[in-house]
Amino acid sequence: MDKLEIEGGVPLRGEVQVSGAKNAVLPILAATLLADGPCVIEGVPDLRDLDTMLRILRELGVEVEKDLAAGTIRTEVRDDTKIRAPYELVKTMRASICVLGPLLGRRKRAEVSFPGGCVIGPRPIDLHLAGLEALGAEMRIEAGYILADGRHMQGREIYLGGAYGPTVTGTANQLMAAVLTPGTTVLEHAACEPEVADLARFLVKMGAKIEGIASPQLIVTGVSRLTGARHRVIPDRIEAGTFLTAAAITHGDVIIRGAEASHLTAAIATLRRMGVQVDRLPDGGLRVRAPERLHPTDLVTLAHPGFPTDLQAQFMATLAIADGNSFVTEKIYPERFIHVAELTRMRAKIRKKGPTAIVEGVDYLSGAPVMASDLRASAALVVAGLAAHGTTTVDRVYHIDRGYERIEQKLQGLGARIRRINDKTPAVDD
Ligand code: EPZ
Repeated sequence: MDKLEIEGGVPLRGEVQVSGAKNAVLPILAATLLADGPCVIEGVPDLRDLDTMLRILRELGVEVEKDLAAGTIRTEVRDDTKIRAPYELVKTMRASICVLGPLLGRRKRAEVSFPGGCVIGPRPIDLHLAGLEALGAEMRIEAGYILADGRHMQGREIYLGGAYGPTVTGTANQLMAAVLTPGTTVLEHAACEPEVADLARFLVKMGAKIEGIASPQLIVTGVSRLTGARHRVIPDRIEAGTFLTAAAITHGDVIIRGAEASHLTAAIATLRRMGVQVDRLPDGGLRVRAPERLHPTDLVTLAHPGFPTDLQAQFMATLAIADGNSFVTEKIYPERFIHVAELTRMRAKIRKKGPTAIVEGVDYLSGAPVMASDLRASAALVVAGLAAHGTTTVDRVYHIDRGYERIEQKLQGLGARIRRINDKTPAVDD
């Protein structure tokens, strides 16, 4: 297992380029299962989760060519009789569930391993299953697999909201099932995340009929066939947001190239409340300039365009050195606080009360050996390490490699003293 070693205290300066969005490219690749003909996806980041999705596609009879230097993936369906996404792959990445919708839409049958537990709290898929059932799919669960038969699917009105708001990958699944389903499907309370909109735009390029893209009501008119298409994925707003916090916590001055400000309004507004100057650049991208002291502020995670849960941990790390108390409330995953204990090891003062963390700003964080636990919690530890006094060693970096492309190289480019230590001890997923 690799580790990241960080000597904190260097204000970040310079320019960094944002990669393509992990959470856009995964469902978009799943959507290539729907195509008659080749698809070319551009702006693809080099990530562990991406490799998992490509393995699943190969398992499902898709020929995949990856050109990492160009950031391009070409797919073409060669065998559309395969319908099984196996446990061995699905267990390593929950986003594998995104193949359920397209398999049902195109091949009319699917056998997808039921995703298992997750360190950020319960992550049910009841809304995915109920939505597909409402479309007329017959669903059973047997031996750990979702067995689905979509031969009698028909467009309907489907309400997709749950106790914690709309579902992102549930909306993606529903869309991908509906585009080839006869009749009109109306998805109410659909997720408005930019990644869902990007998927919808890709589907439209393939010939799908979708109205209301980026709104909570999506109207899909089924078509009989989708062609291949070429598409460039949107920039990763969560990676960009992570760099925003890295600049803020180190009192830096950083230009984030390729960041889409309109996808980051809640994060930018939060930083401005903290006294950080964030400017949109005329040629795209963002410039972030942080003062010596940060103001405390409160934040509540919500569905887009609310504050994203995937930036909660990185902002909490940054607020840990603000001048006062901040309240961080998690409304999407009320148990997503695994980073609190590790940040506390770095001298942060954080108390948890239900779904809220009370962050009492301290003068400085102290570098320590810490353990990465999930993707964004790990990113928060790196952010904290960049500002901490002394050395921070983040163990189990494979969590970060799932969703951040060459993170240490990008941070080195901004002057951070960070290096990867290769360790041959095998990774353990727990
Ligand atoms: C997506 O997960 C992202 N993953 C997550 O990013 C992100 O945290 C999450 O959306 C919320 O923004 C991908 O896009 C691949 P949800 P998803 O269904 O779709 C509840 C990262 O770090 N819910 O929108 O699985 C659920 O428990 C990852 O990159 C149900 O109750 O999330 C949660 O409280 C982590 N029933 C809320 O809805 C369901 O059937 C939102 O979850 C589905 C979800």
